[in-house]
Amino acid sequence: MGQVNVGLIGYKFMGKAHSNAYKSVGMFFPLKNRVVMKAICGRDETAVRKAAETWGWGSYETDWKKLIKRPDIDVIDVATPGNLHPDMSIAAARAGKHVICEKPLANSLAEARAMQKAVDKAGVKNMVFFNYRRVPAVSFARQMIREGKLGDIYHFRTAYLQDWIVDPEFPLVWRLDKKIAGSGALGDIGAHITDLALFLIGEISEVVADLKTFIKKRPLLESGSAFFARKKTGPPQYGTVTVDDAAAFLARFKNGALGTFEATRFATGRKNANQFEIYGSRGALRFDLESLNELHFYSKDEAAPEQGFKRILVTEASHPYISAWWPPGHIIGYEHTFTNALSDFFRSLETDQPVSPDFREGVRVQAVLDAVEKSAQRGKWVRVVP
Ligand SMILES: NC(=O)c1ccc[n+]([C@@H]2O[C@H](COP(=O)([O-])OP(=O)(O)OC[C@H]3O[C@@H](n4cnc5c(N)ncnc54)[C@H](O)[C@@H]3O)[C@@H](O)[C@H]2O)c1
Repeated sequence: MGQVNVGLIGYKFMGKAHSNAYKSVGMFFPLKNRVVMKAICGRDETAVRKAAETWGWGSYETDWKKLIKRPDIDVIDVATPGNLHPDMSIAAARAGKHVICEKPLANSLAEARAMQKAVDKAGVKNMVFFNYRRVPAVSFARQMIREGKLGDIYHFRTAYLQDWIVDPEFPLVWRLDKKIAGSGALGDIGAHITDLALFLIGEISEVVADLKTFIKKRPLLESGSAFFARKKTGPPQYGTVTVDDAAAFLARFKNGALGTFEATRFATGRKNANQFEIYGSRGALRFDLESLNELHFYSKDEAAPEQGFKRILVTEASHPYISAWWPPGHIIGYEHTFTNALSDFFRSLETDQPVSPDFREGVRVQAVLDAVEKSAQRGKWVRVVP
């Protein structure tokens, strides 16, 4: 058995989700090569050492450039904020490493294109962590659409709803800073539903959009403080929110379908509701990430009076990814989507087949986000130019 050595940059939210997936991928999926958690990287030595020890990484680095130069690393995984994705991914590709990068691929279309160029030139494998494609119910929805179970698609309705910044006193974290995050709800959760739209329905040709920032000033964070910690010393100081709190847009798909998209962090009471509804000439599908093992299907082929939406529990061995996990009805969760994604990536290394979504597909998502921003500025329909 050979081995693939991984170096991961970032040790917080996604750092933990990815570490868990590296740990479990070889245990559940039949891979030819052993996945070795070689090194994890972060700037705070105490914290990154603790992450390495707790999660089982063999070593740690405090300088990402050093990590990328290490000859004992085959794959670099970028799990840092968007402003760092281009430099880290391009440097990794130039060093001949395969690259996995978190979403959105970059903070701008130009940067995303530069990243694609770099991986293409280096001839290295590349993947964007659009993990929601790897929810078995979502992959199965695509399979059903491709088999014609829905007929011609008329409507794709999607909403990604969260509420974690509804409190106006919630602090100015990096996700609310355009220089770091690129955009707000749009690039963070809007990128996910855009990727699902391209995955399930197909290319988007044009969009008309609005972006909204409800709370424009927020308390500053103590420098270097934890994610949710407020500045505690002295009177509260406020800084400016430079990204959108919510994004809404209409999309025209190349195949004639009509799309409606909402991405918001102001949907009071909704925690992580990544939802879609698809209506076609022969049937319909409904999905909500908060019940991720379920897909709701309506078929026009069924006769009345039993006709109606039925719940498919997507936990059968015949469903995508499930045979690697548990017996029917033994449900899976959020973390499994990362492991499923990595199984595709490592298999692509072994078979030298393309992996999806790669940076080229990441650029396509970015092109939609770019058109959304331009449309919101101009107040009219804007063509998507990938
Ligand atoms: N796929 C998903 O479902 C999903 C979910 C959340 C976040 N994300 C994406 O993952 C990325 C990271 O988000 P997160 O939630 O993990 O953020 P986070 O704030 O929890 O973690 C960011 C990490 O980046 C590290 N970092 C920042 N600057 C660095 C530098 N110069 N050198 C080395 N490390 C540095 C930080 O130390 C931290 O470990 C973002 O692109 C985000 O959009 C994806």
